Amino acid sequence: MDNRPIGVFDSGVGGLTVVNALMQSISNETIYYVGDTARVPYGNKSKERVQQYSEEIIEWLIQKDCKMIIIACNTASSLAIDYLNSKFSLPIIGVIDPGVSCAINTTKNQSIGIIGTHATIQSDSYGSRLRSLNPKLQIMNQACPLFVPLVEEGLIEGKIPTLIARSYLTRFTNTDVDTIIMGCTHYPILEKIIRNVLGDEIKLVDSGKVTAEVVSNNLKENGLLSDLNHGEVHSFVTDSKESFEKIVTRSLSPIFDIAISSTNRIDIN
Ligand code: DGL
Repeated sequence: MDNRPIGVFDSGVGGLTVVNALMQSISNETIYYVGDTARVPYGNKSKERVQQYSEEIIEWLIQKDCKMIIIACNTASSLAIDYLNSKFSLPIIGVIDPGVSCAINTTKNQSIGIIGTHATIQSDSYGSRLRSLNPKLQIMNQACPLFVPLVEEGLIEGKIPTLIARSYLTRFTNTDVDTIIMGCTHYPILEKIIRNVLGDEIKLVDSGKVTAEVVSNNLKENGLLSDLNHGEVHSFVTDSKESFEKIVTRSLSPIFDIAISSTNRIDIN
């Protein structure tokens, strides 16, 4: 048993979708969530920059005595996980591999779509792992950079997000693609809009949800589960606490089942 917190981080508010999924399966864990709101977005930054930011955040979480790190951010998972694993000895779990396994198990046509930030798509992190498991897979990529600011602005319903979603996603319809990986923490917040454009035939993989299962198994296997009666989520942001709380209320409340116990502003570097 280990009652120390689990550290989770993302470039901003989106990683709370992963925290939400985590708390469904490991509801008695304490989570320290870092949203790097001062430096968001990561999706258009260089690999070196994303590695540096991620390293600084993990160092901070280690100082807070975290027992495990979850990289909720797809961009950081894509560009930095190998680097981070070479730097730190505690378990570090990213969202790419769980999303890949789920997509492989879901597709019937061996044809998978990936949507994400420019950096995630350019890194080919999902594509290369998918191909290494099944070289015959057909893979279609699409960067959807405007989805992140839509969520940050709370524009998650109505005409504007629908038009933008159509412009990115219509190319997937009338293809063999039957499974699409939502390769960005913000996208599950737009799931309704995305589903409306794609229809019910295409299955959506929420990397955060499947990562929660991997984390739960990893904690069990390594004897790291907590025996607390109930869990808590403490948020730490690198910019205005008020802006973060506003976005959480505007965009996340409709899909969020958990309460955040506290939010504090921190300096990472
Ligand atoms: N959290 C990032 C991700 O999952 C998206 C936002 C950003 O560009 O920083 O890729």
